[in-house]
Amino acid sequence: MSGYQGPMRVLSGIQPSGGMHLGNYLGAIRKFAELQHQYDCNFCVVDMHAITVWQDPEKLREQTFHIAASYIASGVDPEKATVFHQSGVRAHAELAWVFNCVARLGWLDRMTQFKDKAGKNSERASVGLYTYPVLQAADILVYKATHVPVGEDQKQHLELSRDIAGKFNHDYNAADFFPLPEPLIKGQFGDAGARIMSLRDGAAKMSKSDPSENACIFLADDADKIAKKIKKAKSDPEALPSEAAGLEGRPEAANLVGIYAALSGKSAAEVLSEFGGQGFGAFKPALAELVVEKIAPIGAELRRLEADPAFLQSVLEKGAERAAAIADPVVREVKEIVGFLV
Ligand code: AMP
Ligand code: TRP
Repeated sequence: MSGYQGPMRVLSGIQPSGGMHLGNYLGAIRKFAELQHQYDCNFCVVDMHAITVWQDPEKLREQTFHIAASYIASGVDPEKATVFHQSGVRAHAELAWVFNCVARLGWLDRMTQFKDKAGKNSERASVGLYTYPVLQAADILVYKATHVPVGEDQKQHLELSRDIAGKFNHDYNAADFFPLPEPLIKGQFGDAGARIMSLRDGAAKMSKSDPSENACIFLADDADKIAKKIKKAKSDPEALPSEAAGLEGRPEAANLVGIYAALSGKSAAEVLSEFGGQGFGAFKPALAELVVEKIAPIGAELRRLEADPAFLQSVLEKGAERAAAIADPVVREVKEIVGFLV
């Protein structure tokens, strides 16, 4: 058990490597807005993680603004929470190097996200992609963050962060110097939304890198586009069951019901007690109406914010200064602990 006594602090990050989608919103960003009222919150745009795979430089800058704007459009208040870009706080890279020397190759070899992203030709993947979860641990621990709101797919990376924190504390005889950070997978509405699947394939995660435009509902999609994508979403010919157990073996149906549940704040059982016995011809229009009601206003605000990059840049720069004020002293302590001259 960790005996860490420091304050509770929240940190999370999203890569500026594509458009923000419903999975990012329900799995992560919506929880950011909930948490900012209770905790010291820090929300990062992880541009250094993004370049572990090729990014066009001009696009990277645009996408960095897009992520910052998505945070704010979804309700994160940059006066309350610190919103910043990772590359703007050099402490992340400094701590990451030390952690590269703490983490073991065997630990990284087990990371499933690396295997998924590197694919068959892993010899050609960047070294950065391999050591990506070590930088993620540094993002979190450079603030001594205790809680990390993320979707379910990040569980394994959070375990690695805990292992790195524990090994650092142990090897350097610095008991409880770093907290062992906990993932926050559940939000206000339980774990609904922790794993949203593609609209074209109920077995694949909704992902910004999906080649099919229709697989993903983006926060920037207008009402028309949202409705069309839901209409085209893969389903099955059966009526909806009246109990959640009946969704087993029906991944597309389960996903659509899950999205309805996550956005309405109801449980899947409640949604099915309302729609059980009805076919997708009836359910899809109701779902489209709900998604449009919840997401289209965020999209409109997102477009308004993106039209003002100077504002977004000033948010990120001020945020980076505030973040560095917490992170720099932690790196200084780490340097002392490991025996660097300070
Ligand atoms: P990424 O898009 O991989 O940079 O993920 C950013 C955040 O969104 C992380 O907290 C992920 O866990 C979360 N996330 C990404 N895709 C999904 C999804 N399909 N369902 C739920 N959460 C997701
Ligand atoms: N790996 C995370 C993802 O793909 C992004 C990330 C980078 C992150 N640093 C982080 C998430 C720190 C939480 C905390 O979604």
